[in-house]
Amino acid sequence: MKVLVTGGAGFIGSNFIRYVLSRHPDWEITNLDKLTYAGNLDSLRDVDSCPRYLFVKGDIANRKVVDKVLKQGFDVIVNFAAESHVDRSIIDSSPFIKTNVQGTQVLLEGARQHGVKLFLHISTDEVYGSLGTEGKFTEESPLLPNSPYAASKAAADCLCRAYYRTYGLPVIITRCSNNYGPFQFPEKLIPLVITNALEDKSIPIYGNGLNVRDWIYVADHCQALDLIIQQGKPGEIYNIGGNNNTTNLELVKYILNIMGKPRSLITFVSDRPGHDRRYALDTTKIRQQLHWKLTTSFEEGLRRTIQWYLENESWWRKIKSGEYIKYYHRMYSQT
Ligand code: NAD
Ligand code: TYD
Repeated sequence: MKVLVTGGAGFIGSNFIRYVLSRHPDWEITNLDKLTYAGNLDSLRDVDSCPRYLFVKGDIANRKVVDKVLKQGFDVIVNFAAESHVDRSIIDSSPFIKTNVQGTQVLLEGARQHGVKLFLHISTDEVYGSLGTEGKFTEESPLLPNSPYAASKAAADCLCRAYYRTYGLPVIITRCSNNYGPFQFPEKLIPLVITNALEDKSIPIYGNGLNVRDWIYVADHCQALDLIIQQGKPGEIYNIGGNNNTTNLELVKYILNIMGKPRSLITFVSDRPGHDRRYALDTTKIRQQLHWKLTTSFEEGLRRTIQWYLENESWWRKIKSGEYIKYYHRMYSQT
């Protein structure tokens, strides 16, 4: 099977490429990635020389590039490519519209013209908006995005639906909760906490730290996507979640505890504008219809993740010595 992965040099995409190359000896993967600040070929060094893997640098929003790549003929497109950080979308939403909306449209159109058999679009639980203290989002929940990031992802989901309904393009949308694991860019909460703690730097908690996220170990997400490629039904949406809901404050304390670092590193800062209070996903559909099961407990996943950052200091130090931190942290001041 020939698979085009977009955004494969990012966190989930690189984990997915490694996952499927090791499990499917007959799959060939082409990775189309623009290499934005979040794209990192260091995350794929171990698969670099695999004859079934090819990297192409390019923008999914560029029609010519996409057309040229798709001429190679693909059975499946897995669209991970996106601007993915909420804080950045608050500072400047333009690249989010360009990549997440326009880029998805260009890919959908390319998939239609080149007869791709499955377009798997990687979306997020953030398209559903925010929950109060009760309930979970199902695949039927309305799209009520609150951040420019979530709005751009919701727009892309709508385009995917439209391409299925209008042109019969075989599209599947997945909406996953917050991922964590190896190779995650240290602007996201868990790698930020781990790497700051390793450097004995303060850990910013937005607002009161009582916002709730559902965390899933990235390999469990990859496993679900692999299953969906093989058994998912075109036109359907599947929620994928870790069934692991914790407040940010509890999570940070838990990580500091495992690492033997003091809670005094925690610094409360001003809240994220429009900060979603709680995400929680009902994953009955994928569990019942595709018999998907979570395999990694939160405790085990966190231990593995911390260990990975301990053993791969050069990977994250190279990133943290760059400019990225100044970019978004100017938004938050100590409270
Ligand atoms: P990431 O930011 O780590 O990686 C994004 C990748 O896309 C990078 O390699 C980047 O270079 C590439 N990219 C960006 N713009 C591009 C463009 N125009 N053309 C080609 N490549 C481009 O993101 P991630 O955390 O790996 O997330 C991957 C996908 O999963 C995204 O679509 C995101 O919305 C979705 N998602 C992420 C999470 C999470 O917790 N990280 C949860 C649910 C869904
Ligand atoms: P993040 O990893 O950015 O994911 P998302 O916003 O997509 O859920 O943030 C996870 C949660 O952690 C979110 O409620 C915002 C909060 N947060 C902090 O409190 N401090 C931080 O430095 C970061 C990056 C996030």
